[in-house]
Parts: sequence; structure tokens; C-alpha cells
Amino acid sequence: MKDIRTTYLEFFKDRGHTIIPSALLVPDNDPTTLFTGSGMQPIVPYLLGTLHPLGSRITDSQKCFRAQDIEEVGDNRHTTFFEMLGNWSFGDYFKQEQITWMWQFLTKEIGLDPKYLSFTCFRGNEALGIPKDTESALLWQRLFAESGIEAKIGEDPERTGIEEGEKIFYYSEKKNWWSRAGIPNNMPEGEPGGPDTEMFWDFGISLGLHEKSPWKDKPCHVNCDCGRFMEIGNNVFMEYKKTASGFEKLAQKNVDFGGGLERLIAAKGNNPDMFYGYIFDTLRHTIEELAQKKYGEDEKYTYAFRVVMDHIRAGVFLIADGVVPSNTDQGYVLRRLLRRAVRYADILGITSGSLASFVIPVKETYQQSYPYLEDKEEYISSIIRTEEAKFRETLTRGIKELEKRLSNSILTGIDAFELFSTYGFPFEMTEEIVKEQGKSINRVAFQKEFEKHQELSRSASAGKFKGGLADQSEMSVKYHTATHLLQQALREVLGNHIAQKGSNITPERLRFDFSHPEKMTDEQKRQVEDIVNAKIEERLVVTYQDLPKEEAEKLGAIGLFEEKYGEKVRVYKIGDFSLEFCGGPHVKNTGTLGHFKIVKEEACSAGIRRIKAILE
Ligand code: ALA
Repeated sequence: MKDIRTTYLEFFKDRGHTIIPSALLVPDNDPTTLFTGSGMQPIVPYLLGTLHPLGSRITDSQKCFRAQDIEEVGDNRHTTFFEMLGNWSFGDYFKQEQITWMWQFLTKEIGLDPKYLSFTCFRGNEALGIPKDTESALLWQRLFAESGIEAKIGEDPERTGIEEGEKIFYYSEKKNWWSRAGIPNNMPEGEPGGPDTEMFWDFGISLGLHEKSPWKDKPCHVNCDCGRFMEIGNNVFMEYKKTASGFEKLAQKNVDFGGGLERLIAAKGNNPDMFYGYIFDTLRHTIEELAQKKYGEDEKYTYAFRVVMDHIRAGVFLIADGVVPSNTDQGYVLRRLLRRAVRYADILGITSGSLASFVIPVKETYQQSYPYLEDKEEYISSIIRTEEAKFRETLTRGIKELEKRLSNSILTGIDAFELFSTYGFPFEMTEEIVKEQGKSINRVAFQKEFEKHQELSRSASAGKFKGGLADQSEMSVKYHTATHLLQQALREVLGNHIAQKGSNITPERLRFDFSHPEKMTDEQKRQVEDIVNAKIEERLVVTYQDLPKEEAEKLGAIGLFEEKYGEKVRVYKIGDFSLEFCGGPHVKNTGTLGHFKIVKEEACSAGIRRIKAILE
């Protein structure tokens, strides 16, 4: 059998879609969020109307990472890293085509038995002015009928449970509405969203799962948590935009489909434990060999097996996409993953120093779709090896220190902070060990300590790790355009060796990392500010063009270029001043930016400087 990823991509290619490679796990020029957490994230500008250089039908398998799920890993269906299969219509096809194709894909291409499929649709909400999605419900009903199944529609499954013969269900916006910010009330102005129709696989009938669940006396329904049903895909009909007073229609009707690859594999194998899916086979077998234990045989080890499988796989992909372990931002999350993997590998009895041996099975599983893993294998292994060694030193010292300070039943915030700052002992690990011993920790006090010591406390406190909205606020867009002006100004003042090494934007400031061997003088900083401010005052028009890559290079376009968009690339032009590879979005005219000011210039790493700047 062909794997599900390839089957999916080819299915949509045959229906006029262009296959695009996955964007990086670390969004580039994407403000406020640390990781790419959904297939839609790199696609937002095109849903809002920017023309995609490769047309109005796109399909891909997007690598995703959700740091907020680290705590959830350990059950049978949560992973931090996953692939989201996606197909998009940018103002092209809509409900009829999408629903029919999905039915064909699920029932014919991968051969899921329609008897075990269910679908949910949006009930409508008068106050929001969004109608009930009867069109989708009736389309699913007709497709069931063509397969000889008389599917009934359940109007209020949360109240009544599933009645005999019901396969299609209406839910409110709490379940059947999708935007990056969640339900309609949480959406910021300008954010796109819409009703969705979700697809579920029923493990319960064949496996009797519901009988064993703690929910068995409640009216189980497809969105219930008992484990009987698993959501395998979500078709979002993205045709609305949030406004100050409610919603308006976007200029185009879009489709955003997201399907969890691992979940589809679980449905196909009719096993609700995703870690038995074929994508984990090689890795699972290697861990079993080194641990000399079989996954699933002794429940005591199930959690540890899952943590190691998940964290190693995520770690390999994060490192391949440029993350290195550190104490801030993405690096901190990676560090946490690898260190947890070490702890749980120990619980499995795997010989110390072996964590890097799991890179090979991950590479073997994925190299056909992600060939760069082959080239990076050695590098990834060496990062993991070094991190494990460092952590083992930390562990020995940290655990000793923690036990000393844990004579009381509560660990103080200062103690927890010192374990972190002086001994490099991760807070989460302190928390886990304290919990294991039935004691508690003063989390609030720890956070206070932490924030006192962090320059950008936001990056370290819990909020940042929740992932979520990739901010497209007006202010962030302004900072994005200012970043282009800054890069060109740096080239004029310091020379053409300046190349972007990193960029991060929040609605409060921009941060730009670039190659330059020495500290900038005050005079140079002033010159750069003056150039940027002059370009703002000139009210330059910002435009873009889609060009073949060679042509864009010939024109002298600068910036980071990934083979993200295939043949054609987008370049943004600011007057005659700057020309840069970029996906947008940008302001239309630099006159709206305000006054540009550099607030800090510092070393970032060897040969790389970092500027933080604000618009006043
Ligand atoms: N963007 C939709 C999701 O992530 C498909 O569920």
C-alpha cells in the first residue's frame, strides 16, 4: 500500500492542485508565535486575498509542532509534532467539491469503511448572523445514501447522544467553527474564519471502547472525550472575516482542509493508539530493542515509551529546521523535549548516552518525504548527543540540590528559580519530581522570580508556549515592512555582506539578526535610523511581483529564500529602495509606519548581531 501522505497529495494533484513543500517548523517573519502549529499558518495571506504564485488550488503536508501539548503527550492520541495534510481553495471550489472529494479520499483511496464514519456540521448562530450549514449536512447524507447507508441527522447530540442510525450531527460554534483564535468571540478584527465540517472515525463499535470508558453512562457523542471517536480531519469553509461589529464575507470563499496524518493512519489501522501506527514502527522497534521491553506489554512503561517516541521525533525535526537547544524561545522548548526524553529513556532502562541512536529510525521513516534528513543526520545526532551529556551533568547536580531543598512539603519559588538559574535544572522537571514525591511547588512565586530575571519575560512565561495566533495585527504588519527597510539601510551603511539570520516580530517591536563581525558604532546606528526614517517620510509605495527565481535574483532581490513556493517566488518592492524575497503581508505605503528607533544592538552569536527596534 502507498503511504497515506503520498496517496493524499497525489489525489489532490489529480484534481488540479499544486503540491507545495512544507514550510519550516519555525516560522520565518511570522510574528509572536514560536512554531508552525497548523497547516494554515503559512497560508493566511492567501486566504485573505493575496494571490498565491502557484494558483488557487494548493495541497501539502505541513510539519506542525504544538508546544502546548508537551504535557498531554502520554495518552494514545497526543503528539507535539505531527503532519497536517492540507488542501486549499483560494476562492476556487467550495463545499460541493470538497465534501465529495473527501468522501472519495476516505472511503475509496484509503478504504475506510463508511459504516464507521461520522460528520459534524455547524448549527448556525442567529446572533452572529451565520446560517446553519445544511448544505454540508445534506451533501454527506447523499454520499452515505450512494453507499447504501441511510444516515440520519442528529440535531442536538450533546443533549441526546447518538440515536439509532444517526451519522451526521449539528454542533454550535464551540465545535464547528474554526479560526486561529478559536471561537468567533475570541477572534481579533480582520481575522479570517468560518464554519467547518469535521470527520470522525468510530473505534468504539469494533473495539467496544465505549463500554470501558468512564463516560459510558453519559450520552456519548462524536465530540465526547471517551476515546470512542477520533477526529480525523476538518474542512473549514473560510468565507468570513471578523469586523468591529460582527462578521462580513471575505472577498473570496476559501476551503482550508486539515487532516492529521497520524490520526488517519490510526483510523486505517483501526487502532486508537497512534503510537502503533506505521509511521512509528521503526522507531518503536528500535526503542524496544534498546529497552529490552515490548511496547504495550507492561502498562507501567507505556507512558515512557510514548514520551520518548514523541519527543525524539519532534526533536529531530526541530533540529533539522534550525533549532538548537538553549534557554530561550524555541531552543528552550527543544531543550525541554530532549531532557524529558532522557528522563523517560532512563525509566525504560535504556543505556545512558543512547538517545542519539534514535535519530536513524526517524530518518529512515521520513527520508523519502523529507530527503534533507539524510544530509543532516550526523548533525542532528551530534546535537542530541551533546545535549544528553550536558543534561546528565545537570541532573546529577540538580537532583542532589533539589532533594536538599525539598525537606519541606512546599518548594519555594526562590528555590525553584535557583535550581533553574544556578543549576540549569528545568522548572518543569522540578515540578514533575516534586509532584512525584507528593509535594508541591509555589509556581506563582517562581514565575515572579523568573520574570524579574528575564529581559523579555514574555518569552519565558507560560503564555509564549501556548503557541496560537500568528499575529497579523496592523502593528505587526508595520514592523514587518520596517524590517525590510532596516535590512536595506544596514546594507547601505555597513556593506553588502549583511544577510538576514533571523527575524521575530511582535506588535510591540521588531527583532532582526544579521551577519556582521563587529559592534555597530553609535554613528552607524544613527545613520541606519536616519535612512529608515527618510524612507518612511518619502511615503514609498509597497508592491510585489511573482517572478521565476532566477529573474528575481538577477534583479538583486535579497533575503532568505527557501524552496517554499516551487518555481515562482514572490518579491516585495519598497519604492526603488528595497527588493526582498518575502510572502508578505506588508503595508501599502511606508508613510503609515511612524518614527523608527533602534533600542538595542547587541551580539547574538559569533558573527551575528541583533537589533531590536520600535516604531513610535
Ligand atoms: N485549519 C484547520 C485546522 O487546523 C483545518 O483544524
